[in-house]
Amino acid sequence: MKILLVGGGGREHAIADALTRENVAVDLLATPGNPGIAQLARVASVSATNIPGLVELAEREQAKLVIVGPEAPLEAGLVDALQQRNIPVFGPTMAAAKVETSKAETKSMMLNFGIPTAHAETHRLASTAREAVTSRFGAPVVIKASGLAAGKGVIVCHTIKEAFDAIDRILDDRAFGDAGNECLVESFMTGEELSLFAIADGTDVLPMLGAQDHKRLLDGDDGPNTGGMGAYTPVSLCTPKLVDDVTECIFLPTLHAMRKRGAPFSGLLYAGLMLTPEGPKVVEFNCRFGDPETQAILPMLTSSLLDPMMTVARGAKLKHVAPFTWRDGASVTTVVASSGYPDAPKTGAGIELPSFGDAIRVYHAGTTRAADGVLRTSGGRVFAVTAVAPTFSAAQRASRDAAAAIGFDGAIYRRDIGWREAARIEAAALAMESSAHNENVGRNETTRSDPDARTS
Ligand code: GLY
Repeated sequence: MKILLVGGGGREHAIADALTRENVAVDLLATPGNPGIAQLARVASVSATNIPGLVELAEREQAKLVIVGPEAPLEAGLVDALQQRNIPVFGPTMAAAKVETSKAETKSMMLNFGIPTAHAETHRLASTAREAVTSRFGAPVVIKASGLAAGKGVIVCHTIKEAFDAIDRILDDRAFGDAGNECLVESFMTGEELSLFAIADGTDVLPMLGAQDHKRLLDGDDGPNTGGMGAYTPVSLCTPKLVDDVTECIFLPTLHAMRKRGAPFSGLLYAGLMLTPEGPKVVEFNCRFGDPETQAILPMLTSSLLDPMMTVARGAKLKHVAPFTWRDGASVTTVVASSGYPDAPKTGAGIELPSFGDAIRVYHAGTTRAADGVLRTSGGRVFAVTAVAPTFSAAQRASRDAAAAIGFDGAIYRRDIGWREAARIEAAALAMESSAHNENVGRNETTRSDPDARTS
C-alpha cells in the first residue's frame, strides 16, 4: 500500500520506522523526509507547507493514505485540500487543528464545556493583560502566545516583572509573529506534566502510552525552553486508571465539544496534562504526534499503527479496532542538539554516526546529506536517540551512552532524561528496604520479648 508521510523530523522518522517495522511491504514515500527516513522510504522534495504541491504529489503517486506529521500543514489546511480530492488522510482539518493553533479558542471551549484546565483570560492589549496579572492572577503565572510558536510560546513567570516582560514580548515585540495576536494569562498549576496521545475518530479514542517530555535545555530542568530534549515511557504515574479518567473527563468531552462547535477532531489528539492534586488538568492540546515523545513511544508498540490510522482516515469508527499493545520494559529518548540551540543553532558540522545494536534507534531530525556525501547537521535538534530495555534504568543508561557516542562539533544533550522516574524508582526501593528492615526489627523484638516465640 502506498503511503505518503508529510514531514522531515525525528517524529516522522519514528512514524516511518514503526510503519515499516509493522509491514515491510509498505510502499512509503516521505516529503521532505531526511537522510534517516531515506533509509526506509523514497523521499520527495516538496516542502511540508506547500499545500498545492503536496496535493499534486499525493494524486500523482496515487497514495492510499497521507499521514501529516507537523502542525504547520494542518494549520494551513492540507487535510481539507486532500479530503476535497477524496484522498484518505490521517490528521485533523484546519478547523479541528485549532485545538492547537488557537489556544485562546480552545481555552474558552474547555471552560465552557467543563473540561478540567487552569483558569485563564485572553488579551489583545498589553495594558489589559498586565492589569489582569496585577489585580487578578499575581505570580507565579503562565503567559502564553495563542498561536503556533514552535513549542516556545508558553512562558512560566515566577514574578510580576517576568510576566510583564513576557506579555510585552508576545503582544508588543511580536516575538512569535501573528501567533502573538492574542495572549493568555493563565493560573499557575502545580504537579507533574504528562503527555498522553490518543488516536481519535471524532467520537472515540484509542489512547497510547503516557510519556514525559523534558522541555528545558539543561540537566536539572534548567536553562531555556526548547522543543523538547528527551522523553521516556512508560511513566509509572500514568496508571490504567489515570488513562481511563483522562479518557472520560478530558478526551471524550473534548471530542464532544469539538463536534458541537462544528469541528469534529479526527487524527492524533495530544493532551499535555498537569497531574494536579485535584486530578489531571489540560495544559494544552496538540493536534499531532509530539516530538520527542513519539520517538520514545512508537518503538514500544507491538500492535498495528497503520490499522487505526487507516480506519480514521477513511472516516470509519475505532470501536472495532483493538486497543494498542506494548512491549514490556521501558524506552528513553535523548535528543542530541547543535551548540547554540535553541536561539541560534550552529549547523553544518560533519557527523560521525557509530552503528548501534537493535536496541538503539537513532532518529534523524536536523541532518542533511551534503553534496560531498557527508552527513552534516542542519538544525537545532539533530537526533533523537532511543533505547528500549527491560528496565527503565537500563534504557536510561543506554540512551545516554548512545547519545554520548554520536560525534559532531558542539553536540549537546541532557544526561538526566527521566530523572523523575529514576527518583520514584529510588524512593520505592528505599521504602521497600526500610519496610523490610522494620519487619526484621519487629520480628527480633517479638523473639526477644515472647518466651513462647523463643521456644516454639
Ligand atoms: N513535546 C512537545 C511537543 O511536541 O509540542
